[in-house]
Amino acid sequence: MKPGPILITGATGQLGMALALQASARELAHVAVGRPDFDFDALDTVGRCVAATAPSLIVNAAAWTAVDAAETNADAAYRANRDGPEELAALCRIHEIPLIHVSTDYVFDGEKGAPYVEADPVAPLGVYGASKEAGERAVLGSGADAIVLRTAWVFSARGKNFARTMINAARRTGALKVVADQRGAPTAAEDLAGAILDIVVKLRRNGWRTEYQGVFHATNTGETTWHGFAEAIFDVAALHGEARPTVTPIATADWPTPTKRPADSRLDCTKLATIFQMTLPDWRDATHRVVTAILSQDRPT
Ligand SMILES: NC(=O)c1ccc[n+]([C@@H]2O[C@H](COP(=O)([O-])OP(=O)(O)OC[C@H]3O[C@@H](n4cnc5c(N)ncnc54)[C@H](OP(=O)(O)O)[C@@H]3O)[C@@H](O)[C@H]2O)c1
Repeated sequence: MKPGPILITGATGQLGMALALQASARELAHVAVGRPDFDFDALDTVGRCVAATAPSLIVNAAAWTAVDAAETNADAAYRANRDGPEELAALCRIHEIPLIHVSTDYVFDGEKGAPYVEADPVAPLGVYGASKEAGERAVLGSGADAIVLRTAWVFSARGKNFARTMINAARRTGALKVVADQRGAPTAAEDLAGAILDIVVKLRRNGWRTEYQGVFHATNTGETTWHGFAEAIFDVAALHGEARPTVTPIATADWPTPTKRPADSRLDCTKLATIFQMTLPDWRDATHRVVTAILSQDRPT
């Protein structure tokens, strides 16, 4: 691989922050960029950041992630999730550096009834999933050396996510209703970041191999529902003295949202284990670490 730092985009996001923190801890040279300096709504900033950084590799953690708001902001979602990554991939091809691009379980409709493998047909249910799927195709069709990592249900001690929302909600009310008929794998941003940096280290050691090209599924191990995830969050929170709410399981139909979510978006991560010898920790272990970190910070608002 070429010399140069890792360029991390989406510096203010859950994954971008986790990547930068861990790259620092592991003494991996990196530059983390965010808006306004790096903005997919102003594509000239993308070229400028790449030129100024002269990276050895780019990790794209920048994305439009507001699933429901994407329905009424399709242009902006496509700019961030398709056009921006396409530009980034074109620059990676020109500079002959690899791109690690992050995508989502929401490219699937959740109807398979079993964990999805990478070769399964995509069928996004909403604008967010469709824009991310278009981004995957743009990146993989760019001619750049590219790894697309699909992940799911990302949460972390920093940023807006389900764990923080649940803890805050429980402080306001003793009774919550949580959807119990959507299955998936909560994934800690810090665990995904660790896996991405392990991939970077492997690329540096092995050079690029053709088997690295393409889509990989990368979530924490195991599965649950949003209801099961909420219960696990409150199990840990109770250990830290938080009052435990009652959590009533409800059906998706009882919690209408502007975008339909996949009912079962579990991702089979065997390919990641086979090609990169990597398995992310169990989601319960991740929940324990992240909730403990949230509660050791200032009180969430
Ligand atoms: N969150 C999830 O549950 C989830 C699930 C599956 C897959 N993923 C994927 O995982 C990746 C990381 O997600 P995350 O949870 O870390 O997201 P996040 O916390 O919402 O962070 C998104 C980042 O992207 C930046 N961004 C948004 N629009 C941009 C634009 N037009 N130009 C440049 N930067 C822009 C944001 O910057 P600002 O702070 O300036 O807005 C922020 O730094 C994304 O590819 C996402 O699609 C996430």
